[in-house]
Amino acid sequence: MESPVVVITGASSGIGEATARLLAGQGARLVLGARRADRLDALAAELGGEVRTRATDVRRRDDVAALVDLAVSTFGRLDVFVANAGVAHVGGLDTQTVEDWDEMIDVNLRGVLHGVAAALPVFRAQSAGHLVAIVSTSGLRIVPDQVVYAATKNAVRTLCEGLRQEAGPHLRVTAVSPGFTATEFVDTVADPARRREYQERMAEIAMPPDAIARAVAYAMAQPAGVDVGEIVVRPTAQN
Ligand SMILES: NC(=O)c1ccc[n+]([C@@H]2O[C@H](COP(=O)([O-])OP(=O)(O)OC[C@H]3O[C@@H](n4cnc5c(N)ncnc54)[C@H](OP(=O)(O)O)[C@@H]3O)[C@@H](O)[C@H]2O)c1
Repeated sequence: MESPVVVITGASSGIGEATARLLAGQGARLVLGARRADRLDALAAELGGEVRTRATDVRRRDDVAALVDLAVSTFGRLDVFVANAGVAHVGGLDTQTVEDWDEMIDVNLRGVLHGVAAALPVFRAQSAGHLVAIVSTSGLRIVPDQVVYAATKNAVRTLCEGLRQEAGPHLRVTAVSPGFTATEFVDTVADPARRREYQERMAEIAMPPDAIARAVAYAMAQPAGVDVGEIVVRPTAQN
């Protein structure tokens, strides 16, 4: 596909930012969303070319719809929606708060559904389109302290398989499961000791985020009739 039009949520850091960098280098036209608009604008200025940004909270349906509208009004179409924005609260079910669970459900699951609600009608009208969801290996090997996070990611995995079956011959759906990836993801762990533990482990074994960007680019690069359903990418040192 020449110069695909790609929306990426959570493009202000980590995997979303790395995906924006890689795809921009390959000639994609990008619409980037996240809450930290200053970071999106700095990235867009650095990338140059055809990049638009919009402050977006994926918990708000209207924000995500506006991101898709921006792609269509600027570039005339939407080829790929990368549902990447995500949050994790780690800790046991005894100690986590219902607010922690609500935020993970609202961002990781409801946020992706807002993307489907906005992008699917455009994909249907074009008879083409590709949803890429960034899920997690936390949903493949379930470990303590990441239970609700894993549940939200596996809900999205289920959504992807269901959408794939409903999609018909023209749409593509890909779930990418990263293992431990060096991003800002663990910087928000509330407990300082746990945060340090995760950050040290990240420095020790995590993959650079462009490992996941390449997986997204691989799924996108397949011919229209080829649908890459699942990609799992882990650091070799991860259990
Ligand atoms: N790092 C890992 O080890 C790992 C492993 C498996 C899966 N993942 C998944 O990879 C995805 C990207 O995470 P990352 O590792 O790149 O971490 P990150 O650097 O913390 O990036 C997370 C991104 O999500 C955005 N975000 C968070 N809440 C949002 C909201 N309500 N609305 C819009 N954007 C929001 C953040 O932007 P703002 O704060 O500016 O809104 C940021 O751009 C997530 O879905 C995560 O679950 C990460």
